[in-house]
Amino acid sequence: MSSPLQIMPATLDDLADLVRLEEACFSAPWTSKMLAAELTGNQFAHFLVARDAGNGGAIVGYLCYWIVFEEVRLMNLAVVESMRRRGIAARLVEEALRTGCAQTATRAVLEVRASNHAARSLYRRFGFVDVSTRRHYYTNPIEDAVLMELEPMRAETGSRHDRASAIDGGSIPAH
Ligand SMILES: CC(C)(COP(=O)(O)OP(=O)(O)OC[C@H]1O[C@@H](n2cnc3c(N)ncnc32)[C@H](O)[C@@H]1OP(=O)(O)O)[C@@H](O)C(=O)NCCC(=O)NCCS
Repeated sequence: MSSPLQIMPATLDDLADLVRLEEACFSAPWTSKMLAAELTGNQFAHFLVARDAGNGGAIVGYLCYWIVFEEVRLMNLAVVESMRRRGIAARLVEEALRTGCAQTATRAVLEVRASNHAARSLYRRFGFVDVSTRRHYYTNPIEDAVLMELEPMRAETGSRHDRASAIDGGSIPAH
């Protein structure tokens, strides 16, 4: 059994849900003000949410990314804990890379906590490689950031799960 997953742009109406998800997923979460600034006040920012249509359209994941000329910058990504390992993050990343490719971008970059093996593994599946380390970049807890880069950029999915279109029509396979 599976329920339909929809990937779509986030709006300010989603702010309260995004704050809840952010606070559940990160030890140093973005604040409501920071999220609102990305949603409304940043010309480079794109904000996607993944909705579970089988559960009233509940937000089950989100990705904030920037397209800055030749570069896609993956800024923040999170999936509801109970919905992980179903290909949702991969669908969001794939959509960001596809949009970047269709615009001006040729390279994608991101920073990730050194201990975040799940995220690093996800990015490696897309072909991202470690390029450098920023010592003590993160706080709460203090930790190094690993800079990862994908160049030349491509948008193939990094998941063995749903390889259907990243816009509508895909599904969340039940585990
Ligand atoms: C990292 C995160 C976004 C992954 O979301 P997800 O929807 O579970 O990821 P996907 O199901 O799309 O995983 C795609 C691939 O990434 C890798 N991956 C994802 N989670 C993994 C884990 N816990 N351990 C090892 N590999 C993992 C696997 O290769 C996976 O493919 P597979 O399931 O076919 O083996 C999620 O764990 C999360 O929200 N973590 C907390 C917030 C966070 O760390 N965000 C990233 C900040 S840079």
